[in-house]
Amino acid sequence: MGATGAGAGSPDAQARLSAIGEIAAGVAHELRNVLQVISANAYLARQSPEAAGPYLAKIEKNARAAQQIVDDLMALARGEPALAETLPVAQLTSSAREELSLDAAVFEDDLEGLEVRAHHGLCVRLLHVLYENAIQASKPRPPRIVTRARREGAHVVVSVTDDGPGVPADIRDTLFDPLVTRRGGGTGLGLALARRIAEAHGATLTLADGGGGASFVLTFPSR
Ligand SMILES: Nc1ncnc2c1ncn2[C@@H]1O[C@H](COP(=O)(O)OP(=O)(O)OP(=O)(O)O)[C@@H](O)[C@H]1O
Ligand SMILES: [Mg+2]
Repeated sequence: MGATGAGAGSPDAQARLSAIGEIAAGVAHELRNVLQVISANAYLARQSPEAAGPYLAKIEKNARAAQQIVDDLMALARGEPALAETLPVAQLTSSAREELSLDAAVFEDDLEGLEVRAHHGLCVRLLHVLYENAIQASKPRPPRIVTRARREGAHVVVSVTDDGPGVPADIRDTLFDPLVTRRGGGTGLGLALARRIAEAHGATLTLADGGGGASFVLTFPSR
């Protein structure tokens, strides 16, 4: 259609459609938890309307979280991470753990007070994907998850390493593709979203070789 060549069947339109599909899949992945919490608390509020205050508060909190997820992923669609702020890695890791239950994992950090150029909401979601995967892969045992930040030349390298079973060998090469999963109840969207967020920051997200558990490495460009 037209001189731009961006008609419905054109390669440009196909690429845009697939980018939109990718973002929509990311929204679906991230909304699942908060929607579950909202419906569970709506059920509890209905069971005891006279004592519904705390349940309604949780519904409000999670509805706000859902709004934030949509806003953050819209920012990804708009390419906004380029406007990222300078943030301490420690702030990103602690926000990423807020939605996890306290006994889900034992966290250890070695962050050297480093900072990165990052979109707060998106990088929190990226780390949350890594933490959630480590916890799910290690079930029923709470894993030990070590987050490290190091300066390597002009880069800041953040690694997330767990002591779980490690990534199954047969998916190591396709791990970041959408719909690749070896987990019952998994969809294979988490790491595809995580890599997309990394790329939007000019960063890379890879799986490190070897070791007993899994180790993911996020390399930020120089600031
Ligand atoms: N820390 C980890 N330890 C072991 N295996 C992992 C780890 N992280 C990811 N994996 C493997 O990689 C697969 C893909 O992860 P991804 O987050 O993309 O999808 P998922 O967790 O299966 O589903 P979804 O995130 O959509 O709910 C997982 O199914 C799991 O087999
Ligand atoms: Mg996952």
